[in-house]
Amino acid sequence: MSRPSFLALRGVRFGFAGQPPVVQDLDLELAPGEIHCLVGRSGCGKTTLLKLAAGLLPPDAGSVTIRGAPPHDRRAVGFVFQQPTLLDWLSVRDNALLPVSLQHRPTDADRQAADALLAQLGLAPYGARFPRQLSGGQQSRVALARALLLQPPLLLLDEPFAALDAITREDLQRDLLRLCRAQGITALFVTHDINEAVFLGDRVSVLAAGRLVRQLTVPADAARDTPAFGACCAALREALGRDEAIA
Ligand SMILES: Nc1ncnc2c1ncn2[C@@H]1O[C@H](COP(=O)(O)OP(=O)(O)OP(=O)(O)O)[C@@H](O)[C@H]1O
Ligand SMILES: [Mg+2]
Repeated sequence: MSRPSFLALRGVRFGFAGQPPVVQDLDLELAPGEIHCLVGRSGCGKTTLLKLAAGLLPPDAGSVTIRGAPPHDRRAVGFVFQQPTLLDWLSVRDNALLPVSLQHRPTDADRQAADALLAQLGLAPYGARFPRQLSGGQQSRVALARALLLQPPLLLLDEPFAALDAITREDLQRDLLRLCRAQGITALFVTHDINEAVFLGDRVSVLAAGRLVRQLTVPADAARDTPAFGACCAALREALGRDEAIA
């Protein structure tokens, strides 16, 4: 990679207390502004890897750095969980404002920033509603707005659209791409969905039993439904299938 890495995991190993390693020999580097997708079977260590990247878990060996420094600055990282994890008793707008509210009373500028993000995600009419009054896709959008509010340079997403129907999912994928590209965000995106990984990713890594077993660069011309797109999907399916053969 010609540019210096933005996120770097080098020789990372991690195991939960008294258990064999869940992640091992892991080297992964993301260039600034890169969207990197991580695919792998259930239980192979994807969420653990994201938590290591966020500094929520300390590696047993190796190092994790964001722009060359350990990931101590929580504001530098936005995390989107598999479930939207919104607070029922707060309005959509207040949920989006939560990262600010945890630090200080939101200012007018903070409220304007939250409203602008909600509008960009098609939620302008819903700011005063409560999460239970939203569809699943709308709740996922609020969770995305919340993660983006502090304009984190690094976004970590853990299967954020897994529960959504295919059409809503494609809408959200486009929204996410647009926002990441507009703000120059570097993103590590975990998914089970090979098509989603190839659509979103500049590169895609396959994780199996805690190790990276394949890394693939998605050609710039690999738009959905093109032969290049199909070839990437087939290569990833093969890498995941090989894992099955080993198991
Ligand atoms: N807190 C924990 N304590 C002990 N073991 C854990 C803990 N969290 C996860 N594990 C184990 O670590 C392994 C990897 O878990 P992880 O959540 O990273 O998998 P994953 O790839 O995200 O799976 P999924 O696709 O189902 O979300 C699993 O075998 C899991 O049982
Ligand atoms: Mg997981």
